[in-house]
Amino acid sequence: MKTIIAMFVFLGSVFASELPEEFDRLLYDKGEKVFENKCMECHQKSMPIPLLMKNFIEENNKLLNLKAPTGNEISFRLKQQIGSRDDMEFHLHQTEDFLKDYLYNPDLSKTICLEGVIRHFEVMPSMKGKISEEEISKVNHFLYFLEGFNGVNKFYHDETKF
Ligand code: HEC
Repeated sequence: MKTIIAMFVFLGSVFASELPEEFDRLLYDKGEKVFENKCMECHQKSMPIPLLMKNFIEENNKLLNLKAPTGNEISFRLKQQIGSRDDMEFHLHQTEDFLKDYLYNPDLSKTICLEGVIRHFEVMPSMKGKISEEEISKVNHFLYFLEGFNGVNKFYHDETKF
């Protein structure tokens, strides 16, 4: 029995140590609330990427009829297209700056999304006056870690994919 407990403690610490030190659970949860309150009117939180690709590329968005790219798609593209992943702390600032700019001044010429995805949508309305910089900072933390780090959340992640 003792060995089993010891094993779980050991495994627990291995999994815990996989989380990047930049990850802040409290901030993530607050960001998720912002996303639920201010973004989910249009953006779904997370859907499997193969299903999304089928919807957008093969079915012309008729399968899911989405109003906007999903949170996990944005999470993936944000980290892939913005700044440099070498230094996560700095990268988080870079994605935050992008979000601040995009949410206040959306413009499809700045898009980080795939052409095959974005062509289904009109530009999103500006959120000037509807979301504070502090809330964007929180939602950035949520979106950054939504997809890509095992153990961070209950959705879907594969670190090798970004
Ligand atoms: C009224 C609907 C609506 C709301 C509310 C909304 N969005 Fe969007 N969003 C869209 C649509 C439509 C697109 C795709 C067109 C575009 O990129 O502008 C989009 C695209 C985006 C993109 C990708 C931009 C790009 O093209 O690369 C980001 C990032 C984003 N939204 C973040 C958010 C966040 C964060 C919130 C909440 C704080 C939010 N949106 C609220 C409709 C909305």
